[in-house]
Amino acid sequence: MSLRSVVWLVAAQLGGGSVLPEDECSETALSMLQGRASKARPPSASHVLELEYSSGRLLLHVQAGALPAQRLLLDTGSSTVAFCNVSLPETLPGAKKTHFNACEQYGPSTAMGYFRDGYVGPFFQGDLSIQGLEIPDAMFAVFGQGSCAPSMCADHPSQGIFGVAYRQRNKIFPSTVDLSSACVRTSSEIEILCPTTTASFVPPVMQELRQTSDGSEIFGIYWSGLASGSMYLGPAAVETKNFDPSAPEAMLLDSGAGASGWYNVNVLRILVGGTEYEGVDCTKHSRACIVDTGTPAFLLPAGVSLDSSSWLWESPKLEVHLQGVAGGDVVLDFDLEPWLSQNMVGTLGAPEAFWDPLMVLGLPLWSRYYTMFNLTANTVSFTPHAQPRSG
Ligand SMILES: *[C@@H]1O[C@H](CO)[C@@H](O)[C@H](O)[C@H]1NC(C)=O
Ligand SMILES: *[C@@H]1O[C@H](CO)[C@@H](O)[C@H](O)[C@H]1NC(C)=O
Repeated sequence: MSLRSVVWLVAAQLGGGSVLPEDECSETALSMLQGRASKARPPSASHVLELEYSSGRLLLHVQAGALPAQRLLLDTGSSTVAFCNVSLPETLPGAKKTHFNACEQYGPSTAMGYFRDGYVGPFFQGDLSIQGLEIPDAMFAVFGQGSCAPSMCADHPSQGIFGVAYRQRNKIFPSTVDLSSACVRTSSEIEILCPTTTASFVPPVMQELRQTSDGSEIFGIYWSGLASGSMYLGPAAVETKNFDPSAPEAMLLDSGAGASGWYNVNVLRILVGGTEYEGVDCTKHSRACIVDTGTPAFLLPAGVSLDSSSWLWESPKLEVHLQGVAGGDVVLDFDLEPWLSQNMVGTLGAPEAFWDPLMVLGLPLWSRYYTMFNLTANTVSFTPHAQPRSG
């Protein structure tokens, strides 16, 4: 796969653009919807969800109501759950259309400030089920007619997206906001630009995590590097043998009011083939350094050289130092060779806009580490996969 076809599945936050009207009706409707979504339920048990790997994507099989399961891309780089099939709205038994729409754009942005990929569509409230895990009254979107033919849906195994980042990225727009011109299609290009909003829904996975009995919200993601993987919700995330309680924990910078809602780690320095790069500034509200299952590659900051003749080491390694929780750096290391040979290592251009991430630790990260996200502590831990034993 060439980097040109890499879907950089990070929904970007825009400055500028139009701002939502302060509409009291929609505020009230919003709190009612969220009140229903978060009504008290008994604590749920742990869940282990099977993931399928196909063409650079980790996929989760998700059913809306009684419809056949759809394969949704598991994306830690966004927060909305959305189905590609634009014919679904007429045939969604048991789900109610809300008065809100989704508008998502996927980076990187162009010099003109537009994005090349994204969608617009209505939010529904209804039941989602994922291999026996029922999420009642979940908020999910369905791509509307005229969505910008995202590469997520065309020529790929995924039939939608399952975002699991923080709530701030699950942006919503009251239906009074006209989104009909958000996406412009010309014969050769797609240009999408969503307005800004600070309103959001609780993402379905967060709705489920809030039910865990010990009060803290945790989940884990495992990928074997081959055909299979698992997502662990609740206590299962620390009960799995993939998790080591002594694994180092890195800080997540980007939760809380006003934050972008990404899983933004603080990258202190990077070594590529023995050359060191410092001064990567992954600040809280923009220029994030994100951990993102939805990007099938490592995307390194602008200025990092991938020219192997400049490397000191024969077999190229990537070492990433993150700000740890317990003082000291959390050091992740990767053998770059397999990813270079598949063209799954690239560098980002200099950021065009303040919302462009500086660095993306994409899916290759999970071929080596199990990640356990603790949303209560805003940390992520990295357990290296057990080495296969010989004999
Ligand atoms: C979209 O959904 C409709 C209604 O459920 C179904 O008939 C159709 O086959 C689906 N299309 C695709 C491409 O999955
Ligand atoms: C998650 O963080 C909370 C708050 O710091 C802590 O009480 C809890 O033990 C953590 N859970 C795990 C599994 O590390």
